[in-house]
Amino acid sequence: MAVSYKDLGLVNSKELFAKAVAGGYAIPAYNFNNLEQLQAILQACVETKSPVILQVSSGARKYANATLLRNMAKGAVEYVKELGYEIPIVLHLDHGDTFDLCKECIDSGFSSVMIDGSHHSYEKNIELTKQVVEYAHAHGVTVEGELGVLAGIEDDVVAEHSTYTRPEEVEDFVKKTGVDSLAISIGTSHGANKFTPAQCKRNEEGILIPPMLRFDILEEIEKRIPGFPIVLHGSSSVPQDLVKEVNEYGGKMKDTVGIPEEWLRRAAKSAVCKINIDSDGRIAMTAAIRKVLTQNPGEFDPRKYLGPARDSLKKLYMHKNISVLGSAGQA
Ligand code: G3H
Ligand code: 13P
Ligand code: ZN
Repeated sequence: MAVSYKDLGLVNSKELFAKAVAGGYAIPAYNFNNLEQLQAILQACVETKSPVILQVSSGARKYANATLLRNMAKGAVEYVKELGYEIPIVLHLDHGDTFDLCKECIDSGFSSVMIDGSHHSYEKNIELTKQVVEYAHAHGVTVEGELGVLAGIEDDVVAEHSTYTRPEEVEDFVKKTGVDSLAISIGTSHGANKFTPAQCKRNEEGILIPPMLRFDILEEIEKRIPGFPIVLHGSSSVPQDLVKEVNEYGGKMKDTVGIPEEWLRRAAKSAVCKINIDSDGRIAMTAAIRKVLTQNPGEFDPRKYLGPARDSLKKLYMHKNISVLGSAGQA
């Protein structure tokens, strides 16, 4: 039986995006796959009074089970009330690749879906996105489309070379598809190894600085579709203190380079109103778990290492909301 997101107490992204664009901040879109990640996201967003997009990839959906996920989202709405401050919660499908997957999610309580047709031809991308929009809008669900391809790994799709979004296509794409927001490619990419060291320069502290994001393309897009909600994927900053901790406690993460926080802050002040962060959370959890298990090799109670992992994740998300995205205080 189909379930509407409205019955779960969730909201779609329409109003949140309009406010974020006008207010010069971005809504956090944090991926989750399990209970501890969900708890950390909700606690951080309630404490910073930030709206939130709970983002679920198709891999996460398979991992956590669709029925459990729906009920976790329902539980999330009740949990934030219990925490004492009601924040708007969107349940969003990340990188949906087929109409059927988007439909399944819409029918099972998602309030927002991404249809990622960026690896198809422009015409096929329009056709697929439009099909999803028609079904989604009939159910009050908002849709994110994508133009341009990010380098790195987009779920199962390996994009070795990025293709920046072509500003001359955005107006036509938005008009023909009816999407509510548009993910663009301006130099971010997925994962913890976004760039090779050879592509970067070292600053005075020895930190690898990647090639500058193409803010010129973003500005050109904004000129062509003023005020239209823009989304940035691949926006982890890959905090080097956390990578160091992972490696100090037996990890082997090498050549990790992320997007500098000040670039994201700059993007958040523009029409970019949704910023996707997953990898940073993975690194924070891994560092905390490695630390506990290295310091206490005899430990075998998962709560003893997942608890600290959750605390570290919460701290990371609070920092993002307050100092990077500007979403704190906007709920
Ligand atoms: O963009 C991809 C997200 O980080 C989700 O990754 O497919 O491994 O869950 P995943
Ligand atoms: P990161 O890998 O940079 O965290 O990006 C996540 C993302 O874009 C999810 O869609
Ligand atoms: Zn992504």
